[in-house]
Amino acid sequence: MRKVKWAVEYLSDSQKLVSHPEEKKSLWKGQYRLLHVEIGCGKGNYSLEMARKYPDELFVAIEKNESAAGIAAKKFDEAMEVKNLFLIHGDASLIDTWFAKEEVDILHLNFSDPWPKKRYAKRRLSSASFLQQYQSILSKYGQIQMKTDNEKLFEYSVLEFLKAGFLLDDLCVNYRREPHEEDAITEYEEKFIANGQPIYRCVFKKEKENETDS
Ligand SMILES: C[S@@+](CC[C@H](N)C(=O)[O-])C[C@H]1O[C@@H](n2cnc3c(N)ncnc32)[C@H](O)[C@@H]1O
Repeated sequence: MRKVKWAVEYLSDSQKLVSHPEEKKSLWKGQYRLLHVEIGCGKGNYSLEMARKYPDELFVAIEKNESAAGIAAKKFDEAMEVKNLFLIHGDASLIDTWFAKEEVDILHLNFSDPWPKKRYAKRRLSSASFLQQYQSILSKYGQIQMKTDNEKLFEYSVLEFLKAGFLLDDLCVNYRREPHEEDAITEYEEKFIANGQPIYRCVFKKEKENETDS
């Protein structure tokens, strides 16, 4: 995306930016029922809309691109009534330094960069080293919810989730066939829907909920 000149300065003043996320490790959830983390939030629409929809759950959005993070921060700050939303400006390869073991309930991967060339496969947010960290920070019945327009990334990710020991809970190759009011539409998703492209979605769980546990 194009460089946003005011982004650096804006980020340093943002109310919703957590500049030392490692200091919040194990303390994020507080009174909130569930902790959601969106990795690669772009301009932030998804986490903002989800935070509005679920006010008793906490949303933390992560973005490494300075310009996108600046835009997301501004959007989050302007939504003053939304208290259950924070932003981390950083690379998600550090995610297990920001969240404690079993602290996160739902991880969202929305339209992640596909990195189609094999030599960059390690940068994919569903590659093995990321999944190892997700296994650690996800709570016992924690979930990864992934949406993409990219068929190849979808196939790759489903196989990687299975290889890493995650359990398939839901899979759809045309998610917006039905409206799904419970789930917000991201900036990228809006464009794909407008073009009539199908949205692939899967949900993987860390462990299956046992009926005797509930
Ligand atoms: C294709 S965009 C999708 C943005 C948004 N999720 C959407 O659906 O509209 C992918 C975003 O993920 C971010 N990203 C990619 N790898 C990342 C990483 N390792 N840590 C944090 N953000 C990352 C990119 O900077 C980019 O903004």
